[in-house]
Amino acid sequence: MAESMQGLKRTHRCGELSAVNIGETVTVMGWVQKNRNKGGLVFVDVRDRSGLIQIVCEEGKTDPALLEKAAGLRSEYVVAVTGEVAKRSGAVNDKIATGEIEILPMELRILSEALTPPFPVEENSRTKEEVRLKYRYLDLRRPDLQRNLIMKSRVMTLTRQFFAEEGFIEVETPMLGKTTPEGARDYLVPSRIHPGSFYGLPQSPQLYKQLLMCSGFDRYIQIARCFRDEDLRADRQPEFTQIDMELSFVDVDDVIEVNERYLARLFREVLDVEVTLPVQRMTWQEAMDRFGSDKPDLRFGMELKDVTDVVRGCGFGVFTGAVENGGSVRGINVKGQGGMPRKKIDKLIAFVKDYGAKGLAYAAVQEDGAVKSSFAKFLSEDEMGALVKAMDGEPGDLLLFAADKDKVVWDSLGALRVELAKQLELSDRDEYRFVWITEFPLLEWSEEQNRYVAMHHPFTMPMEEDLPLLDSDPGKVRAKAYDIVLNGNEIGGGSVRIFQDDVQEKMFEALGFTKEQAHSQFGFLLDAFRYGVPPHAGLAYGLDRLVMLMAKQDSIRDVIAFPKIKDASCLMTEAPTPADKKQLEELGLEIAVQED
Ligand code: AMO
Ligand code: AMP
Repeated sequence: MAESMQGLKRTHRCGELSAVNIGETVTVMGWVQKNRNKGGLVFVDVRDRSGLIQIVCEEGKTDPALLEKAAGLRSEYVVAVTGEVAKRSGAVNDKIATGEIEILPMELRILSEALTPPFPVEENSRTKEEVRLKYRYLDLRRPDLQRNLIMKSRVMTLTRQFFAEEGFIEVETPMLGKTTPEGARDYLVPSRIHPGSFYGLPQSPQLYKQLLMCSGFDRYIQIARCFRDEDLRADRQPEFTQIDMELSFVDVDDVIEVNERYLARLFREVLDVEVTLPVQRMTWQEAMDRFGSDKPDLRFGMELKDVTDVVRGCGFGVFTGAVENGGSVRGINVKGQGGMPRKKIDKLIAFVKDYGAKGLAYAAVQEDGAVKSSFAKFLSEDEMGALVKAMDGEPGDLLLFAADKDKVVWDSLGALRVELAKQLELSDRDEYRFVWITEFPLLEWSEEQNRYVAMHHPFTMPMEEDLPLLDSDPGKVRAKAYDIVLNGNEIGGGSVRIFQDDVQEKMFEALGFTKEQAHSQFGFLLDAFRYGVPPHAGLAYGLDRLVMLMAKQDSIRDVIAFPKIKDASCLMTEAPTPADKKQLEELGLEIAVQED
């Protein structure tokens, strides 16, 4: 039976007590973590978000009724305990902060009883995630998840503080809006008043923040919820949060400068980690050439090497074929892994096939300098020697090569490099390695749509020196776009925006938009620009990704209170659910396809 809290007031959180409080009478409230009954001696651990405290009841010392009540407590009961803080009579527990003390209770109230939880509430739970997500409210009692969410709260507070001090103004933008051109699928919300019409939930506040610059807000910030209907991965959720900003009268360096100071302050205050400033910058081209990725993890080497020229005339058809098709041959040197068993190499070959590669050619340099290779028979000894030399191959090394179009080679070797580093534990988990990636291509050819698409978005400014190429060779134009990358993860991205009519028109042309199409989609923005637009630029971080990395978690779900699973559903509420008939009628909607 639930007892009332009347007359009791919590004096401390459990984990806040220490030897300093010895002799004081305190009241704590929380959940029963564990109850050990040693016959006449009952230990109860009480937990709240700050930690654990041990309550001790002993025959002869504790009131017999209280002792009996304590003995009957079960896990997750909610209790209030008033008692005296004492030095531990038994062994000190140095695993917990309150390990030197215990509470000798004078009063114990059961505020609520609890069913036996489906899994123990404990750190590093080994319970399957599906079970934990179904009972997320219990999962969230676990100290690791509590720490993550507390860290996220701290990051949000510091973010607001920092940008407010820097003169940024927080402005809210609509959730019910027009669809944004960010490239993922929109979530649509049907309108009741305008049957057949839909709002789009924002993929980002992009257009609104540019309008706010037109309105003169100068420096805007928002911690904004964004929605993208895309395939989920460990670092992607259908709804997520951006730290979104836009600045007027600035160029690339200004955006980077204020953000570097922000990151440094955040990491210092939350993690006590010093970020070395300025953060390294690398062009997109260099990142692709050296790491096969626009989000390189710089905590380890194993860089890609272009050996196209070394193998150009060799007798291996896989290599020469790729070169003749305008592609390249590149390799990585996996140091000291020359003895890797064939089975493991086969797994790596299967791995790169997911990235579009047709295979992986390998060469293992033996201790005596001889080379064991999947393509040795196609190369002369000299040719193989030159290849090994180009790869800085030494006895004991494993050389892995991919030959294909540049994009396939980069994607597959870039991913392979990261996968091997994970398998071989090459990166330091305590290191935070930032890098800005700059000078992204403005456009990217879409095979699917048979046209150029914007790599960032259609309002991204081309680099001035590349402007002439916009007509002649659009694929070569570089953009004033930048991403901030941390340990191989894109934590944020942004760009300088186009603010001149003629450049914007050319951009739409390159994207294959007619004037009418451009106007029907973004007319309000283009109109706004005709009434006096300041040059402007901005950036948005993925807050969840940033906190995931700061908290050293492998999944974004571990820093989101109520996340969705892979199929974008919520295991706890079972959303999404079918709408009832009346709701659909009101909206003028009919369901054509039923989910099986
Ligand atoms: P972008 O699309 O690069 O830029 O998004 C910015 C950052 O948001 C994070 N992010 C995500 N996080 C979790 N789940 C997702 N599905 C997801 N998608 C993106 C990433 C990414 O770096 N309006 C522009 C920014 C600008 O130009 O100012 C934008 O949205 O960390
Ligand atoms: P094959 O001639 O298909 O038997 O391939 C010979 C070797 O080359 C095998 O080890 C393949 O995995 C590898 N290979 C095949 N295609 C490629 C490619 N595009 N790039 C690199 N290696 C490849």
